[in-house]
Amino acid sequence: MDLFIIHFMQSKSFHLTGIEELPKEEIESLLDLAESYHQKLNAKEGWSSDLLKGKVLFYLFFENSTRTRISFEMAAKRLGASVINWNTDTSSMQKEETFLDTIQTLGAMKPDGVVIRHSEYNAPYFVSTQMDCPVINAGDSYHEHPTQALLDALTIRQAKGKIEGLTITICGDIAHSRVANSNMYLLSKLGANIRVIAPQDLMPQKFPVSKVETFTSLKDGLPGSDIVMTLRLQKERMQKSLIPDTGEYFKQFGMTMERLDLAGKEAMIMHPGPINRGVEIADDAADHPKRSLIKQQVANGIPMRMAVLDRALSKG
Ligand code: CP
Repeated sequence: MDLFIIHFMQSKSFHLTGIEELPKEEIESLLDLAESYHQKLNAKEGWSSDLLKGKVLFYLFFENSTRTRISFEMAAKRLGASVINWNTDTSSMQKEETFLDTIQTLGAMKPDGVVIRHSEYNAPYFVSTQMDCPVINAGDSYHEHPTQALLDALTIRQAKGKIEGLTITICGDIAHSRVANSNMYLLSKLGANIRVIAPQDLMPQKFPVSKVETFTSLKDGLPGSDIVMTLRLQKERMQKSLIPDTGEYFKQFGMTMERLDLAGKEAMIMHPGPINRGVEIADDAADHPKRSLIKQQVANGIPMRMAVLDRALSKG
């Protein structure tokens, strides 16, 4: 049996290190809980609860973030928890303390939960073996970004009423994308048809799930798509410059409204952010008032992460 699965079965805590190990029923239950938080937040401005009052969370961001960190912080505060933000630049890692000693030091302070983003593949799993509390992955290398895939699924359900049977096309830098991986695991578990479109240099050698249709041009891959997810070039994870001319890249792979119409007049555009306008997406697609779901994705980060924190912490 897979080492991860054994660890999760034996652990007393609910860890969320990836969508890979989440059963379909758990994903659906998290989406339902997030939808109930979404409705509560929309029904009353400033809605909050004391469900997690007295809990203290450590947020360990070893990589930069805007959406994930702030929405995790909002989610915790809406549920009454306190957050302590740690970052590498102001920590004793600047005095050559190792990652392991740092994690064990923080673990000795007995937080009620940890949210971690790290550039090393599987760092959140490693931390979950060292800490006696729930550990939630906020993105690790090109491995997984589970809460992004969950909030994407919540957004798709709200826009299209379902996920099963939809054709969802992921375009751009698939090879370096943890968002693509987590989405492929999730969409496959929930019964969507998955397509990817990428230039050969940004197409992975293998995929995390079977039944992924691959295309190297928008013209071939877009027709019939219900949702088009566009990804930025993740230069921070490229060993060398794979796309030296971003203007040429935009000409071939940039998402515009004209190209979105190739998918169909009802097709919607998504992007996990941060977006790079004029590289992988044009203003008209990013800002379309009806067919861009990008702002809805950002907003859904809060109820989705509230559901994850609720599930991880409210029973302890
Ligand atoms: N989508 C996403 O993870 O964005 P941030 O890097 O801003 O958190």
